[in-house]
Amino acid sequence: MAKKTIRDIDVKGKKVLIRVDFNVPLKNGEISDENRIVEALPTIKYVLENGGRAIVFSHLGRVKDESDKAKNSLEVVAKRLSEHLAKKVTFVPVTRGKELEDAVLKLKDGEVLMFENTRFEDLDGNKESKNNPELGKYWASLGDVFVNDAFGTAHRAAASNVGIAANIKETVAGFLLEKEINFIGGTLENPQRPFVAILGGAKVSDKIEVIQNLLKIADKVIIGGGMAFTFFKAMGYEVGKSLLEEDKVELAKELLKIANGKIELGDDVYTGKAFDPNTEKNVRNIDSIPQDEMGLDIGPRTTALFESFIKDAKTVVWNGPLGVFEFPRFSEGTKSIAQTIADIKDQATTIIGGGDSAAAVIQFGLQDGFSHISTGGGASLEYLEGKVLPGIQCVDDL
Ligand code: 3PG
Repeated sequence: MAKKTIRDIDVKGKKVLIRVDFNVPLKNGEISDENRIVEALPTIKYVLENGGRAIVFSHLGRVKDESDKAKNSLEVVAKRLSEHLAKKVTFVPVTRGKELEDAVLKLKDGEVLMFENTRFEDLDGNKESKNNPELGKYWASLGDVFVNDAFGTAHRAAASNVGIAANIKETVAGFLLEKEINFIGGTLENPQRPFVAILGGAKVSDKIEVIQNLLKIADKVIIGGGMAFTFFKAMGYEVGKSLLEEDKVELAKELLKIANGKIELGDDVYTGKAFDPNTEKNVRNIDSIPQDEMGLDIGPRTTALFESFIKDAKTVVWNGPLGVFEFPRFSEGTKSIAQTIADIKDQATTIIGGGDSAAAVIQFGLQDGFSHISTGGGASLEYLEGKVLPGIQCVDDL
């Protein structure tokens, strides 16, 4: 369903509530990855350049008790936003009350304020996370229109997204949310073929619904990473000390059956004796993994097989690394696959579903080689599962 975007409203002179996802990683109080801030800039700049008054807000981390507040303050993020906009961002260190209301009233056209972490409200009965109706209504009362640009939060029904939308006349998508809907939603609805899905990561249990959904839509579903070993076990192979979810072996058998040949797992792996960056590396056929070794990367024949499908693809969706890419010795498979996808950028739509695979391509310096790298972790996973995301559903239909 097509959604209204910020282009469909007039923001001039309006108090524009902008929900972003600035849930960025912090290390020793410093932002270690600012991608989510950078990706939100087009929407914020558009509001400012078109004479709107931007009221920006987000959650950050999880706030369970008073002691979580200091380490989850958005003040450092407001500073970084101000640097990017080359403009003052008034930071309001509360989430409600007179100080916030006065700051909103003082705001002039073309100015921006940011208020404190919406999850500070979770200290009072999880009001934000449980979508307390009074809280959504209160935040809605601060603005004239609502722009939801927080794709990373779209799988959560919180007061700061669906709660506001339920209490304000107009809710539209910002440019980032629009881009995520077009790439991920558009691909799932109408992929160019061949459509190759690549799924990795540690656990089958995290990806069951994604596999089920993509088996319906994709032409090939490539499976690598730790979760492949539950499938190898289901095929009757011994997997040594590799990651294995015993209780998912039957399910893996079921998935292989319904896949009708669509699932590709390859037939060799790189192994080591320990989960250690310096462990000795061996290549093994999947029918001969020694009892005291574990698979840590896809093998060379498997990599070549996967790449033969990717090379002809018109659509590639990738979620989850294919090996322990954080260990240089076992990063070869994930890196080679990332490079092969980057090589077909001109002929195909190539999407990375956030999280660890996004971290992997950034580590390899290949981030410009993809059509789209999602800013969502959990959100992109649930989108790929075919779920309706509340943060998208609450945006007005066109
Ligand atoms: C994310 O980083 O995936 C989103 O910001 C949602 O965060 P959450 O898992 O804490 O709700």
